[in-house]
Amino acid sequence: MQNPEIHTLAEPFRIKMVEPIQMTTRAYREEALHHAGYNPFLLSSEDVFIDLLTDSGTGAMSQAQWAGMMLGDESYAGAKSWIKLESVVKDLTGMPFVLPTHQGRAAERILYGLIGGKGKVFLSNTHFDTTRANIEYSGAVAYDLMPEASYDSESYLPFKGNIDLDKLEKAINEYGPENISAVILTVTNNSSGGQPVSMENALAVRELCDRFQLRMVIDGCRIAENSYFIHHREPGYDRFSYRQIAQQMLRLGDAFIMSAKKDGMVNMGGLLCLKDEALSRQCVNQLIISEGFATYGGLSGRDMEAMAVGLSEVFDPDYLHYRIRSTAYLGEHLREKGIPVIWPIGGHAVYIDAKKLFSKIPQEEFPGLVLACELYKLGGIRCVEVGSVMFGKYDDHGKMIPAAQELVRLAIPRRVYTQSHIDYVLEVFDHILPMRNLTRGYRIVYEPPFLRHFTARFDNL
Ligand code: F0G
Repeated sequence: MQNPEIHTLAEPFRIKMVEPIQMTTRAYREEALHHAGYNPFLLSSEDVFIDLLTDSGTGAMSQAQWAGMMLGDESYAGAKSWIKLESVVKDLTGMPFVLPTHQGRAAERILYGLIGGKGKVFLSNTHFDTTRANIEYSGAVAYDLMPEASYDSESYLPFKGNIDLDKLEKAINEYGPENISAVILTVTNNSSGGQPVSMENALAVRELCDRFQLRMVIDGCRIAENSYFIHHREPGYDRFSYRQIAQQMLRLGDAFIMSAKKDGMVNMGGLLCLKDEALSRQCVNQLIISEGFATYGGLSGRDMEAMAVGLSEVFDPDYLHYRIRSTAYLGEHLREKGIPVIWPIGGHAVYIDAKKLFSKIPQEEFPGLVLACELYKLGGIRCVEVGSVMFGKYDDHGKMIPAAQELVRLAIPRRVYTQSHIDYVLEVFDHILPMRNLTRGYRIVYEPPFLRHFTARFDNL
């Protein structure tokens, strides 16, 4: 419990093992960035001081998880570690069929490969990019159905991650229920700013799915963070624990996909859970062909032990309070400084509107990349552009069609950085503010045909 008389947000853990990080000189970082083609993905992590590229697989494990690693049963079939993980997951989800996978996208490939295919349609609040990629790879199409009001980055809505129920019903009628493979609810909604989905919204999706006999999938890699928001923002839910809220929401789905690299609190791992026995048999076949036997699915026994422990630790009220409030601390202070952030602050990351911050840099010159590069040059901070580098397209004449938004994501690894690291990040932004009048950005000098943000190279203009 937080001391109600004291407002400093102190981390609810102390540090038993340290990993040194190193500050370099500005000249060194400029050289490193030039060498990386001005793409932060191509930097060596050794040259990064604070790494906010992603919250996926970058968290620190607890002493109980490390102790669990020593108990890992590495048997090929029926390992004790698997039996433990399966029982934790069944209790959490209420789903009788649980498949382990090496990470979230493996579960996506197996499920969407089987239920997708040409002519099929998937509907979601927002498909995460690997979700969309796996659906499209199967030949199916994916539509995002966010409420219009959620696109306003400044307005306060408690559940900005919701799916638009009117749009959903219209889409079901338009494409025909028989063509719809699934309605996917992504909680929290990563691509829209880590915003939560309400229980009311999830219940309404369940009702629509029942009415049209559709499958409802929950992509819930941040389900615990979502439960925190429901407990604190949705009327009537403060009487349930975070874990009970997660249990209630997961019971609404027909399937649950989880990248355990987020709220599973592990560095590697994923889950595919199902209610349907026939479909689960098909999935198990795919799992065995490509990932591993049904009781390890590409994970080692120690990975499964750590995940079993992580899935209970993540619901600890002290941890979740620290997690959500420390992300908000960064976002709220940036906002006070006049940095345009997506509001309210989501669970795992702060998103900055770089188009607003650098309003004189044309979208064709990637204002988000400018911010990411300046944060690195100034403070050794690494983050990711979520704008026209990631989503820009070309028309038939080779002219760039920019993305709808130019965002930069500062994702916070779990239990890794302390408040002084975050204060350091905030201070670096003091040096960003005077740069608001920058007019020039970057041009692409190399790009691959798909997912260009990972490997593209740029040059200064
Ligand atoms: N679904 C969501 C909502 C995600 O955020 C991710 C990963 C995945 C599925 C795929 O899981 O990486 O284990 O294969 N998000 C990471 C991120 C990569 O940085 O947001 P995975």
